[in-house]
Amino acid sequence: MTQDELKDAVAAAAIDEVRPYLYRDTVLGIGTGSTANCFIDRLAELRDSFKGAVASSEASAERLRRHDIAVFELNEVGSVPFYIDGADEVNAHLHMIKGGGAALTREKIVAACSELFICIADASKRVARLGAFPLPVEVIPMARSYVARELVKLGADPVYRQGVVTDNGNQIIDCFDFMIDDPVAMEARLNAIVGVVTNGLFAARGADVLFLGDTSGVERLTP
Ligand code: A5P
Repeated sequence: MTQDELKDAVAAAAIDEVRPYLYRDTVLGIGTGSTANCFIDRLAELRDSFKGAVASSEASAERLRRHDIAVFELNEVGSVPFYIDGADEVNAHLHMIKGGGAALTREKIVAACSELFICIADASKRVARLGAFPLPVEVIPMARSYVARELVKLGADPVYRQGVVTDNGNQIIDCFDFMIDDPVAMEARLNAIVGVVTNGLFAARGADVLFLGDTSGVERLTP
């Protein structure tokens, strides 16, 4: 199986997970990235059995609309029963690094408003320890160099993601060489730096279910 086929297989597994709970008034939370796109494309077949979706990025909102799936503002909806999204890395506790696509803040907000966070990922994303993937930090533009200096004090090698502006008008710093022993503590520590909007550690609110795909099939894992 190719990596694209694995992404589609985990998307299909997530569709099977949510399908029994789709009703006329159901609004789903939808993530961002190539694996989330597979989920959106499969969700299109079910568009008549639920109300619509809240998207974690403009890109996902556009893809949903192209499939004639109604897109709602989170403030209109309040909460969602499921949030389905990919990850850049995921450990055995279903803590994740996310934000490779720069959508981390909206992803974390929609995830926080979900009853069940379903992560979908191919097996290349599973790690014993988070941090080989550079951890993204979204910053208010005027705070970028200050935040970078604070990240150096924590042991990271911060690199400004040139040319990227988030959906919220902010910038991204990627933390290289930053292996993370305690994701919950580090998530809180990074959030405490003035000028940080969000960091890409999803540990305080990790995933509740992980569909992990490899050549032998799709595994359903819980923390
Ligand atoms: C988007 O900002 C990210 O958090 C994505 O969820 C993550 O990068 C996974 O993307 P892929 O499914 O494209 O690997």
